[in-house]
Amino acid sequence: MRILVTGGAGFIGSHIVEAYLQAGHEILVVDNMSRGRRENLPPEIPLVVMDIRDPAFRQVVEAFRPEVLNHQAAQIDVAAAVVDPLEDASVNLLGTLNVLQVAVQVGVRRVIVASSVAVYGEPERFPVTEDHPLRPLSPYGLSKMAMEAYVRWFGTSHGLEWVILRYGNVYGPRQPVAGEAGVVARFLAAMRDGKRPVIYGDGAQTRDFVHVRDVACANLLALTQGAGGIYNIGTGQEVSVRELYERMRALMGYSGEPDYCPPRPGDIRRMVLSVERAAAELRWRPRIALEEGLAALVGSLDRP
Ligand SMILES: NC(=O)c1ccc[n+]([C@@H]2O[C@H](COP(=O)([O-])OP(=O)(O)OC[C@H]3O[C@@H](n4cnc5c(N)ncnc54)[C@H](O)[C@@H]3O)[C@@H](O)[C@H]2O)c1
Repeated sequence: MRILVTGGAGFIGSHIVEAYLQAGHEILVVDNMSRGRRENLPPEIPLVVMDIRDPAFRQVVEAFRPEVLNHQAAQIDVAAAVVDPLEDASVNLLGTLNVLQVAVQVGVRRVIVASSVAVYGEPERFPVTEDHPLRPLSPYGLSKMAMEAYVRWFGTSHGLEWVILRYGNVYGPRQPVAGEAGVVARFLAAMRDGKRPVIYGDGAQTRDFVHVRDVACANLLALTQGAGGIYNIGTGQEVSVRELYERMRALMGYSGEPDYCPPRPGDIRRMVLSVERAAAELRWRPRIALEEGLAALVGSLDRP
């Protein structure tokens, strides 16, 4: 299959590219390299450095003629979205609209779109199922929620096949530390460098941590299954940030204490996902347990 991956030079996108490549697909990556890195990609993968909002994006898609467009490119920084909701919506909403519009114009059969648990806001029922009410607490969650609604509209109005994947907290190799880094990457870098890791809030807030290779696998299955479906991609395991800290501390042999800072705006208190729908319809299950994923990450570190 010919597949175009937006944001493919980023953390999750590059793992999706790897999974697609291993499965024998032909890939083109479009990434503006605001956070992406060429080194994240196998050298043979063609990369077009371009913003998804660029009118020339259409020509790139027309020339490649993909069957599937996998859309990972996004402004991913929740705190930045709070400060500048316009820029967040410009990339995550208008950028996605351009991607969807071009997909329809060029005759792409299916889009696979990266969404987030941020669409749920502070949930009231656990584990959170896909039909839980959407009440985002941040402009990032709002732009992802609106993006999802547009994806569905393009499906209904233009016959575009779609799959929406709502990721939990993704962690694993190549996660950047700069900007809105995942908490796993931040803890790892701080402990490695002998600095005090920062915990926002009291550390009792919980998250559903899912390994990036499991996320890539869900994107692989979404090539052929799950049309018209929205799927939580997590583990169903609820882990507090403090517990994560303790597990990583043990693995790293780190003896220091964390610094506690005020919670960040848009942060939620509790999150754990039901992944039953993905299991039933995508035939996807998370395979990498948190202990295993963390141990592998720690094992791969170059320590000073
Ligand atoms: N990391 C997580 O825990 C997480 C959780 C939920 C959802 N997501 C979603 O998964 C997707 C991938 O996130 P990630 O963690 O790999 O982030 P990332 O920043 O590593 O990857 C995003 C990529 O998109 C590129 N990009 C950003 N704006 C662009 C633009 N306007 N035009 C072209 N390229 C652009 C960046 O350069 C980067 O390579 C995003 O849609 C994000 O919202 C991530």
